[in-house]
Amino acid sequence: MNNIAINAACTPEDEISFLFELMERQNIREEWDDRGSDRWTYFSEGVKQIISYYLSFKLKGLNLDIGSGWYMHYPDSVAVDVSPVNLKNNMLDKKICMDLEDIAFEKGLPFKDNTFDSVTMVSVWQYLRNVQPVLDELERVSKPGAELYIINGQNSGVQGLKKRSSYSKDICEDMLARGFDSMIEIIPIKGGRDVFQSVTARMPKGCVIEDKQFKIDANAALVNNWEKFLDGVASDEVETVKMLYHELGTYPVTGFSRRFLRKIEMFSQDYFDIIGKKPIIFCDTIWPEIDMMTPHSNIFPYLVSLKDRKDDDTDGYNRDARVKLMNKYNLSIANYTDFFGDDNIEGIENRIKQSGRNDYNYYYPMEDAKFDTFIHFLAAVKLNSFAYDLEKKMYGMLKPKVEDLDSRIEKAFAWNVYSLAYQRKQEREIDELLETKKKILDDRNDIIGLNRFAQHYNAIPYLKKIVLRNL
Ligand SMILES: C[S@@+](CC[C@H](N)C(=O)[O-])C[C@H]1O[C@@H](n2cnc3c(N)ncnc32)[C@H](O)[C@@H]1O
Repeated sequence: MNNIAINAACTPEDEISFLFELMERQNIREEWDDRGSDRWTYFSEGVKQIISYYLSFKLKGLNLDIGSGWYMHYPDSVAVDVSPVNLKNNMLDKKICMDLEDIAFEKGLPFKDNTFDSVTMVSVWQYLRNVQPVLDELERVSKPGAELYIINGQNSGVQGLKKRSSYSKDICEDMLARGFDSMIEIIPIKGGRDVFQSVTARMPKGCVIEDKQFKIDANAALVNNWEKFLDGVASDEVETVKMLYHELGTYPVTGFSRRFLRKIEMFSQDYFDIIGKKPIIFCDTIWPEIDMMTPHSNIFPYLVSLKDRKDDDTDGYNRDARVKLMNKYNLSIANYTDFFGDDNIEGIENRIKQSGRNDYNYYYPMEDAKFDTFIHFLAAVKLNSFAYDLEKKMYGMLKPKVEDLDSRIEKAFAWNVYSLAYQRKQEREIDELLETKKKILDDRNDIIGLNRFAQHYNAIPYLKKIVLRNL
């Protein structure tokens, strides 16, 4: 392949510049791997969601996503990207790792003619050195009449890697000059501003966009109704987050958290055998995955010891034995033995029975906060089988007493999981996510989408909606 190009280069200068190009291309792969390794968002994830929502109306059938990165914009897509790291993190099943620049050296896309119903290229165009050979291949693998969506933020991108303009206006002119009927469509982002635009091109060359006027009108209506459009994005998000947050029942998520749970279970059995109390170990939902992300991080679950034997040992003995066990299993545990006020199941039962009395709950004296201590526990992640048993019992005790028990648990749960739910959206390896957090903040001042961490807070209104709907 390279010989072809070198033979074609007839002067020594050409050969040298070709060798430099090869070196640069090697660097580009490494550069994108590096950027992909921390799921760098290129542009904010909120914008990605809006683009995906926009595309969900446009696309039908099989899509080819060029330069997919780690983000799945449309589920029925095949991803092509130069970066194995990016592709590893992409949720799509069908992924091809290749450098699109190789197409110029007679290495085609590995697809049959007329395979795809559409092609998307989100924030990729500006990085391509040789656009024409790529477009020739896209024409070959797309079905006649397929549309290519070249979507870009205006003048956005990684400056050092850019080879051409990212302005949609320039791209559109370029595409027209190459013989593709093209038009600009605006994707409303915020406040109706036309920050992201799609250059929509009909393939193959020379084929006209028959419904151009219809598309122009529809896009104008969309831009005029941007608030409604963004509401649509929000409710779509609500559905996704809702689905994910119910999916959290699938916890544990990471290999480390699975190993950790096994360790907790062994610790719990030993604890019961040695100390004679049932250890109830649980966490606020957010913690297991966040704190278990790295084996060296501190894990801080709550431990409630429920007394089963009346002739229980002294606290001192329990403390020593507990410390020994925790050292043996290398566990850090917060010990809240009086979390429920009484440390045995009968005590808890009594407390629930008496809960009609206004003074029942001295932790949460407010009338509307009644049962909150228990609801907090029910919404927490249970880390051992004793906690599961208690959950079942406690739920059974509370159900006849608390009319809106399920929605209150769901509400407590929602507030616990908002961050986790958000992170699971694109199935990121949470282990790696936080591990790199510091690195990103330290090294990457040039990052456009640093607000990834702020995104957690964006999830709150959605979860609020879910919660309110269920109340
Ligand atoms: C700015 S990112 C956009 C990623 C994704 N489309 C998105 O919306 O999040 C650009 C992507 O293009 C890929 N890319 C850049 N040059 C490429 C090339 N020559 N061949 C294949 N992929 C390339 C990069 O690896 C990166 O994933």
